[in-house]
Amino acid sequence: MKVLAVNGSPRKEGNTHKMIMKVFEALEKEGVETELVQVGGKIIRGCLSCYKCIERKDRRCATGNDMFNELFEKMLAADGIILASPTYFADITPELKAVIDRAGFVSRVNGQLFRHKAGAAVISLRRGGGIHAYDSINHLYQICQMFIVGSTYWNLGFGGRIGDEVSDDKEGMENMADLGKSMAFLLDKLNS
Ligand SMILES: Cc1cc2nc3c(=O)[nH]c(=O)nc-3n(C[C@H](O)[C@H](O)[C@H](O)COP(=O)(O)O)c2cc1C
Repeated sequence: MKVLAVNGSPRKEGNTHKMIMKVFEALEKEGVETELVQVGGKIIRGCLSCYKCIERKDRRCATGNDMFNELFEKMLAADGIILASPTYFADITPELKAVIDRAGFVSRVNGQLFRHKAGAAVISLRRGGGIHAYDSINHLYQICQMFIVGSTYWNLGFGGRIGDEVSDDKEGMENMADLGKSMAFLLDKLNS
């Protein structure tokens, strides 16, 4: 079983990354393979609304000149998907939004390719607006017939810049470990 996480933060080793690593630690303890793909800070276009994916139905986005299709193949191969983002003005980063719009469309027009996968949202924030960002990710899972994995609190972690990091949010990090355990539990049930 494999879980793919997509980091929407341009800060490669930042708070969102630390939270993902905590979830991975718990997943790996349960024997689940993990992989991280960085999209924050990379060039990834938004959906061009060309609707060629509907005509072609070839499980690809027609905009083939960026990292999207390679990432999409990894999403299809994974049993579970974690989409993670810092909160930017009470929402997710534009890079992650581009992934959601394009992956959601290509998945749906090709016969619900994400159907019955597990999905979790992971959000870091400094102060407020994290729930709105969290919802932005969960909307994708819900419309794609995926199973949403929660934890012992909403999947949020509080952290700012250097010196005010999410690693100091004890409850938030414990919550990430619990999220990993729950995701492993669900994947085991889905695959048995
Ligand atoms: C452009 C920008 C907008 C932000 N907007 C918010 C916000 O609306 N609410 C909030 O709590 N934090 C906000 N933050 C802070 C980050 O979400 C927060 O520090 C997060 O933990 C950073 O994660 P990272 O280290 O993975 O990038 C913003 C940061 C930036 C750079």
